[in-house]
Amino acid sequence: MEAGSVRFVRCGMTLLAAGVALWSLRYWAALSGGYPLIDPDIQRVIHHVPVQALTHMLVGPIALAAGPFQFIPGLRARRPRLHRWTGRVYIVACLIAGAGALATAPYASGGPFAGLGFGLLAVSWITANIGGWRAALAGNFAAHRIWMRFSYAMTFGAVTLRLQIPIGMIFLGFHSYSQMSPWLAYTSWIPNVIAVALYTALTGSTLSARPHPA
Ligand code: HEM
Repeated sequence: MEAGSVRFVRCGMTLLAAGVALWSLRYWAALSGGYPLIDPDIQRVIHHVPVQALTHMLVGPIALAAGPFQFIPGLRARRPRLHRWTGRVYIVACLIAGAGALATAPYASGGPFAGLGFGLLAVSWITANIGGWRAALAGNFAAHRIWMRFSYAMTFGAVTLRLQIPIGMIFLGFHSYSQMSPWLAYTSWIPNVIAVALYTALTGSTLSARPHPA
């Protein structure tokens, strides 16, 4: 991809991620018993497993909003300390939100098949973040880059899931989020992971070391 199109994709990704993260702020009201514009099926999940679900729903948006800045090459080169600190916040948020997601998945509003999809996503998400963190600590920045691309492909599933909901309702005849969620638990993230795998293969990224800001 040309530099201009990469910048365009990154800009769109950042705006969508910020929008979904801001919209998720309404879940803070659940801590004091309010559920503004929150789907009744999701409310039931929160009642069932409040600590797990709210840990996930309140911490996940931090990772979603922080992630895009890590992919700006200029920022990485000019502000390496900022990259490292934002990276720590991102990974810790993913691990906490991922543990919350894994514990919430068995109670997913869409039933066991949805729960299985979200559970697989949570395990893959946690694995990519641990892989990326370990690679950075070991100084293998080529591997770090690839792990983190996969990590954010999954984080961004929070956006693709929400974009697919209106499509499913308008064009495919679904009537509610929970009716659609056995599909969304897979379609929200597997295409993102495939896109990153193709991008990585086509741009010739390998696990061999490439220079990275100290
Ligand atoms: C990538 C791994 C993720 C997994 C495995 C996961 C899993 C889940 C599960 C199981 C639910 C309950 C849904 C249901 O009952 O059907 C849920 C809901 C939710 N998740 Fe995630 N999630 C992930 C990422 C994120 C991220 C990055 C955010 C950031 C915005 C997020 C925010 C939410 C919110 C706000 C809800 C409440 C439902 C809604 O508003 O649509 N999740 N997630």
